[in-house]
Amino acid sequence: MKLNIAVLPGDGIGPEVTEQAIKVLKAIAMEFDHSFNFNYASVGAIAIDNHGNPLPEDTLNICKSCDAILFGAIGDPKYDNDPSAKIRPEQGLLKLRKELGLFANIRPVKAYETLLSKSPLKRKIIEGTDIIIYRELTGGIYFGKKELSDDGNTASDLCEYSRYEIERITHLAFKAAQSRQHKVTLVDKANVLESSRLWRKVVAEIAAQYSDVELNFLFVDNAAMQLILNPKQFDVILTENMFGDIISDEASVIGGSIGLLASASIGDKYAMFEPIHGSYTQAKGKGIANPIASILSVAMLLDHFELNDESELIRNAVEKSLKLQVTTPDLNTKYDNISTSKVGDFIEDVINNPNDSNLNFTNIHLGQSTII
Ligand code: IPM
Ligand code: MN
Repeated sequence: MKLNIAVLPGDGIGPEVTEQAIKVLKAIAMEFDHSFNFNYASVGAIAIDNHGNPLPEDTLNICKSCDAILFGAIGDPKYDNDPSAKIRPEQGLLKLRKELGLFANIRPVKAYETLLSKSPLKRKIIEGTDIIIYRELTGGIYFGKKELSDDGNTASDLCEYSRYEIERITHLAFKAAQSRQHKVTLVDKANVLESSRLWRKVVAEIAAQYSDVELNFLFVDNAAMQLILNPKQFDVILTENMFGDIISDEASVIGGSIGLLASASIGDKYAMFEPIHGSYTQAKGKGIANPIASILSVAMLLDHFELNDESELIRNAVEKSLKLQVTTPDLNTKYDNISTSKVGDFIEDVINNPNDSNLNFTNIHLGQSTII
């Protein structure tokens, strides 16, 4: 298959984790005889520095001309600590989601057997957890009217949803449930918010078309608690934009590191793949950033094009790296010098030699994850 992929490394650790994901994609292209072309473009704080715009017109055009987008990370503390900044890196990502109509953000959360002890949660609570979060991505409070009074003392953000916006992601969530455990939980705040009541009404109507899927409702405050009390009760979680942002970070604790969580953002025409973690600028250039979320994001990219053998190979290679502790320090208790690029090299090695079980693991910590 021939794919043109827009690559937007962005800020902080974005470029270094994206580099590992590209390494992995190149190995897959070689192994399966595909042709992947990479078109790099600028986004975020770095794009503000270089072009005065967090999403330059050029970047948007490159994204629109490609089959898929691989996104790194966005954000810089110099903007986080300045509430008066008019231009912010995050605007680049939000505009990209809106312009490309990426309304469904899909975030899988899994407790890997080999990482159960890494989570601060007890093994018996998280063992077997397998959740997929469907977060609405182009509506709600993120995109509603924003106002600041002239005297600067009153501010508001409108949370608005239309029936159509709710319907389209709800169908995707129910379809996903049909190929999983047949269960959708709508997370909302319908006891307080009018927009949540519309979600409940519309989602309940659509549920009637999917008789093989069970629908439950949960208020977001309770859902936040249930996620760490008993995460196994969830299969597909469907929710609006901001609740999805918050609970997906919370859910990452189940997996043992936010550096593991990948995501896909899907629209009718375009699709973008990105780790859910942020730019973590303190770690930039230190080689400690976990590239697995970015690598698993390209597995989701391949799934999107129904290249399932390819994505499975990536996931198996990732599991192998976790099992053997070829991982960055956020997960590693055995070796203290496995860098971002060493993890990428190891996963690349496994992909290049899928049938070779004679890996020489003895020198992995020295970066020599060679096959003998
Ligand atoms: C995410 C991020 C973004 C969001 C930020 C960077 C705007 O936290 O993708 O979860 O809030 O959606
Ligand atoms: Mn977030």
